[in-house]
Parts: sequence; C-alpha cells; structure tokens
Amino acid sequence: DGEVYKYYSEGEWKKSSSGKSVAIINPTTRKTQYRVQACNQEEVNKVMEIAKSAQKLWAKTPLWKRAELLHKAAAILKEHKAPIAECLVKEIAKPAKDAVTEVVRSGDLVSYCAEEGVRILGEGKFLVSDSFPGNERTKYCLTSKIPLGVILAIPPFNYPVNLAVSKIAPALIAGNSIVLKPPTQGAVAALHMVHCFHLAGFPKGLISCVTGKGSEIGDFLTMHPGVDCISFTGGDTGVAISKKAGMIPLQMELGGKDACIVLEDADLDLVAANIIKGGFSYSGQRCTAVKVVLVMESVADALVEKVKARVAKLTVGAPEDDSDITPVVTESSANFIEGLVMDAKEKDATFCQEYKREGNLIWPLLLDNVRPDMRIAWEEPFGPVLPVIRINSVEEGIHHCNASNFGLQGCVFTKDINKAILISDAMETGTVQINSAPARGPDHFPFQGIKDSGIGSQGVTNSINMMTKVKTTVINLP
Ligand code: G3P
Repeated sequence: DGEVYKYYSEGEWKKSSSGKSVAIINPTTRKTQYRVQACNQEEVNKVMEIAKSAQKLWAKTPLWKRAELLHKAAAILKEHKAPIAECLVKEIAKPAKDAVTEVVRSGDLVSYCAEEGVRILGEGKFLVSDSFPGNERTKYCLTSKIPLGVILAIPPFNYPVNLAVSKIAPALIAGNSIVLKPPTQGAVAALHMVHCFHLAGFPKGLISCVTGKGSEIGDFLTMHPGVDCISFTGGDTGVAISKKAGMIPLQMELGGKDACIVLEDADLDLVAANIIKGGFSYSGQRCTAVKVVLVMESVADALVEKVKARVAKLTVGAPEDDSDITPVVTESSANFIEGLVMDAKEKDATFCQEYKREGNLIWPLLLDNVRPDMRIAWEEPFGPVLPVIRINSVEEGIHHCNASNFGLQGCVFTKDINKAILISDAMETGTVQINSAPARGPDHFPFQGIKDSGIGSQGVTNSINMMTKVKTTVINLP
C-alpha cells in the first residue's frame, strides 16, 4: 500500500525528512516487499547526540534494573516471534521454521546476557601495592568495569534479528547506548525487534535505529565522532570500516571459508549429515557454513556418494513452504555464485548434480575434484554450492585451510581424538569443531575469526567484556 516503515529515534517512530525511501526486494518474488526510510546525515547526528546523553543516565541505572528490562524485552521478543519470522521469510527468504528459531534464539540470548551481565559486572577486583617490588602496603586499588559509551551495531542480512541482539544486549547490560543500522534486507524484521525493546520501556534515546543507503549514511555512521565502539558482522565492508574507524574498539566478524577435513577413519554417515547441515542450511548463507570439503582420497568416492544421496533429498523452493533450499538474498548474489560455478566448469570440476537456477533460486550443487586453481577453492559463494578437494595427506588439508585469507572456523572428522586435537592446533582458525559442522552457537561460546575473518571475540561473555573498559580507583594510605 506504499507505506514506508518509520525509523526509531528519541523513543519515537519517525519519517525521514529526506522524503526518500529504500525498497526491500523479496528474494523469492523479486518484487518490492517493503520500504524503509532513507535517513540522512542530519538524522544520524541527532541519534548520536541523544545516544550520548541517554547513555550517561543509563550508566547510573542499577545493574539489576538494566537486567530486568532486558528480561522483559526478551519475553516480548518471543511473544512477537510469528510476525518477526514472517518478515524474515519475506525479506531474506529464510525458511519458515528457521525464521522462528532465529527469533526464539534471540530472546534466549537477551535473557542470557542479562543473567551473565549481572555476574560479570557485579564483580570487581581489589589489589594491594606491596606485591610489586619496592612497595609497602600503602595503596589499595579498586577496579570495576565501566561502559564504553555509544555502540554502533551493524548486523548482516543473514541474521538481522539474532546478530543485532547479540550486539544490543551485551551493550545495554554493560551500560552503553545503541545506534543500530540494520541491513537493507532484514531491516523490517530488525525494526520489529526494536519495537519489542520499545515496548519493554527502555529510556528514550538509549536505542536508536536508522535505516537507509550505505552510500548516504554508511561512512558517516562508522566515522562519526560520537561512536565509541563498532560491532559489525558482514563482508568485505568490515575491512574498509576497520581502516577508516577512529581510535575505538572494534568487534568484527567478516566471513570465512570453513574447511571440513575428513580422515580415513571418519564415520562417513556422520560426515555426510554434517556436510548437508553445515554446507546447505539457509542455502549456505552463513559465515560458519562448511565452504570446502578436504577429504582423503581413499574415502572420497564413498563420501561423495553419501552426500549426493542426501543432496537429492533436499527440498528446493519457497521459504514459506519451509524448503531446505530457498532463493539467495539478491540477484547480484546469485550472479556471483553463478560466476564461481562457471569458472569451476571451465576448469573441469566434476558436477555431481546439474547446475540449475531460476531467478535467485539456485539448486544445491556439489562440485567434486575441485583444484586450487579454481576460484571456488578459495572464495566464499554464500550460496548452496560446495566444493570437494581430494587430499592425499592430512598435511595437504591443513595446508589448504591455512593458505586461506580467512580463518573463522573449521572442522575435522576422525575417531582418533589425539589426531583431532593436533589437527585443531594446526588449523589457523578461531574455532575447530571435532566431529561436527562449524557453528557459532551455543551463543555463550567464544566466537572469533583470525586473519580476514575478524577482530576480537564474540559470544555473550566476551561481548559484555569487550563493551566495557576497566576503571580503577587507588586509595593512598598515609
Ligand atoms: O553468518 C553468521 C554467523 O555468525 C553464523 O552463525 O549460528 O549460523 O553458526 P551460525
């Protein structure tokens, strides 16, 4: 009906004075589904200003009260799971059940943050001076954790709700304020999530949500002097943000090329099940998706057959029908994936299925006999296409994994736990999963990438700590 969703500033829903809007294209129908405000720089200045003043008061709000409000928001979020999930289905083509799971997981994350926060932040340290050479016991040092200030949260399209609250909740419990810039695809789901925080009764200006074009407000937000910390999840943009940002803490998660190393003694049914879950859930559009299989030649034929049989059972279609494989987020994403597939074709990779695409919908594809000269061996498709590289030694697998510019997660399948641990130690990634596909959750586990995969560590506990700094007061005795 032409309605444009309003943005959230000063505790109110507002229209942008730009008079412009941004269209959100439904990946399935490829028609405009929703419109959001195209906020301008003046409006960004306003939210930064109020975020700063609201944060000062919030930092003085008792910790238990902050936790109470977060628990309330978590409950409201879960009550609103159906309409928010519907937005996820329409905006990012997330399969219906996964969309509901995302919202419920988000509510749990917010509650966990509240619980963890009162414990982490409820404790400080007490130090005495005479442990350091040359000192008498004349100084007592008290430490506590204080907020950073205004946190700029930029989540990606694949978890517009969950990866927003994984930034918002730790920031708030620690006494910070939030300026949220949601991804365009997923912006309406994010606005609805913000509405749940609004209903919980957080103070005005503590949380703001600006929508709009990256070209208009992207750099303006990330380089804004009012920002005290940036928490970003996404692609290459994160590298550019890191280079341009000022002297502020950064939390970045920027994708991966997670390898699945399969040894000769692995349980191949378990491996095949995890390759399907890890490689093809949400059509491969997860930073932690299995993005390359490195399998020992002696078991490769058997594994490929098992994976092929399971690929044949994947349902392909609309997210409303809860299909396993749904259209990828944008046409340009589908074109990029197709480019990787065509490159592999020219270089003679073995196609285990026929390549098929309709609009943004790409059928699941396993590419066998991939070699290092193919782009798909190194680049992340962020789609339902998975390369298999046959290896003749474990060292060859580790070498391929470590030659990547990414280092998010990886996994190794073997029944020999000693070997698995040695391989884990040798893999240059933030996490290695033994006998399971890579995954971020449970959401209190540390989550981090090395190299181009990111800066800092996430997960509830690490994010709360990252969004604080240490303050000390020293009592000097006569
Ligand atoms: O792509 C986002 C990344 O954080 C993956 O999360 O839960 O799918 O492992 P998850």
